Amino acid sequence: MRPTIAILDYGSQYTQVIARRVRESRVYCEIFPHDVTPEDLEAQDVVGVILSGGPASVYDAGAPGIDKRIVEGRWPVLGICYGMHLMAHVLGGEVAPEGKREYGPATLSIEEHGALFEGLAPHERAWMSHGDSVQRLPPGFRAIAATERLPTAAMSDGAKRFGVQFHPEVAHTPRGIDVLRNFLYRVVGVTGDWTPAAFVEEAVAEIRAEIGEGHAICALSGGVDSAVAASLVAKAIGDRLTCVFIDTGLMRANEAAEVVATFGPKLRLVHVDASDRFLSRLAGVEDPERKRAIIGEEFIRVFEEEAGKIEVAGGAAHIVHGTIYPDVIESKSRDSKTSARIKTHHNVGGLPADMTLRNVEPLRRLFKDEVRRVGAELAIPEDILWRHPFPGPGLAVRVVGPIDREKLGVLRCADSIFLEELRAADWYRKVAQAFAVLTPVRSVGVQGDFRTYGYLVALRAVTTDDFMTADWARLPYDLLERVSSRIVNEVPSVNRVVYDVSSKPPATIEWE
Ligand code: XMP
Repeated sequence: MRPTIAILDYGSQYTQVIARRVRESRVYCEIFPHDVTPEDLEAQDVVGVILSGGPASVYDAGAPGIDKRIVEGRWPVLGICYGMHLMAHVLGGEVAPEGKREYGPATLSIEEHGALFEGLAPHERAWMSHGDSVQRLPPGFRAIAATERLPTAAMSDGAKRFGVQFHPEVAHTPRGIDVLRNFLYRVVGVTGDWTPAAFVEEAVAEIRAEIGEGHAICALSGGVDSAVAASLVAKAIGDRLTCVFIDTGLMRANEAAEVVATFGPKLRLVHVDASDRFLSRLAGVEDPERKRAIIGEEFIRVFEEEAGKIEVAGGAAHIVHGTIYPDVIESKSRDSKTSARIKTHHNVGGLPADMTLRNVEPLRRLFKDEVRRVGAELAIPEDILWRHPFPGPGLAVRVVGPIDREKLGVLRCADSIFLEELRAADWYRKVAQAFAVLTPVRSVGVQGDFRTYGYLVALRAVTTDDFMTADWARLPYDLLERVSSRIVNEVPSVNRVVYDVSSKPPATIEWE
């Protein structure tokens, strides 16, 4: 098993950022709930522990705690903000409110560099966000840095355990990444050797052990996650993997042909044109959630039928999913009682309910950028790796209201013009997602002296890191002008184009 850094999650909005920074340092880490036990950590081959920040106060009733044995010296520990308070608290120190919250930059005066601050200047900028601080150090600890406000801005036991009041994981702490790397390389003593090539090698071995001599199936959507997952599994078990690509009739222009051309020669690929089935079930359906439900159901049905046809000894026993780490984290922390359902983000390729298949999720521990690097290692073409995400229900949620073949055709043309111009202007990679929407609005226009009554197409392009919030992309006017004039000239029934300048919230990225 690979040596792992455990990040204990105390609810900080930066917990995932800590994980990203550790991974960027080529060290493998995983996020654990705060009530993890030392036995669990040992079983995962944990070699060092980072305690995240969090919104609570250690004295709050119900404040998230820690199994004290984790911080008693068995492991090197770095406590960040709340993590530092908690360590001080359970080891016999004292934490108290500051009176006023400190939020923003501070100057850190380093009193003792040691391993953690090696290479840093005597004074460094550091980002603060806290209401409490360590007032009395636990026995055996000493202060190693201060700020104007705080005599204990960092603490150390002189060996392997450290606490920092500031946030080394955020970009506002310019040398923060060096502090984290010092902890990893100098205190814990791990080497930064977790590379895409190392991941591929380990994943292939794991997949072989998991699947044995069996067979697997995979729904290939053409998106980056399923493409990388399928390629990885194919590398491990060759043509004992069968990929099923289902053309729902809701794909973008040329998408089906591209997927078949790219993966057909490399994987055992079954291409199913199920567009008639999907479109006839969707005829006249207006409600977006109903559309999603129908598509989800039909997809599973088609997939089951295809899986049943795969002629292998004993049938396929495993199903490969492109689940990635943020999906795993999100599904663990999702609180269905407190969060309202905005949309059902059903990822096409869900597990058929009555199939007895075992899940294989080779990317379940990777962030998106890591998936792309692994994909590059597996020689997957760049334009697949850098594709914008595309919703499972496809163009069905981009034709507002009832859909039919004619409207889908209009949308496909407009959408491909938009994407083509974005690429030509070098804007495709600068936005997180861009697409056209066919609205149910028809408006009056004039073309060649004649009155027209045509469709209104909306263009949407957004910037975002996590798709939870998003801003509309400030595309140059001349680019918008080119797209608009090409659409009204080249797509017969469209006479008007608008650009969506709404952020999320209050809008969402998709229109339905
Ligand atoms: P919204 O529209 O909620 O979308 O701001 C956020 C991200 O999720 C994608 N999306 C979906 N993905 N099935 C999916 O697999 C869906 O039903 C679905 N709806 C939205 C959307 O494209 C964006 O990336």
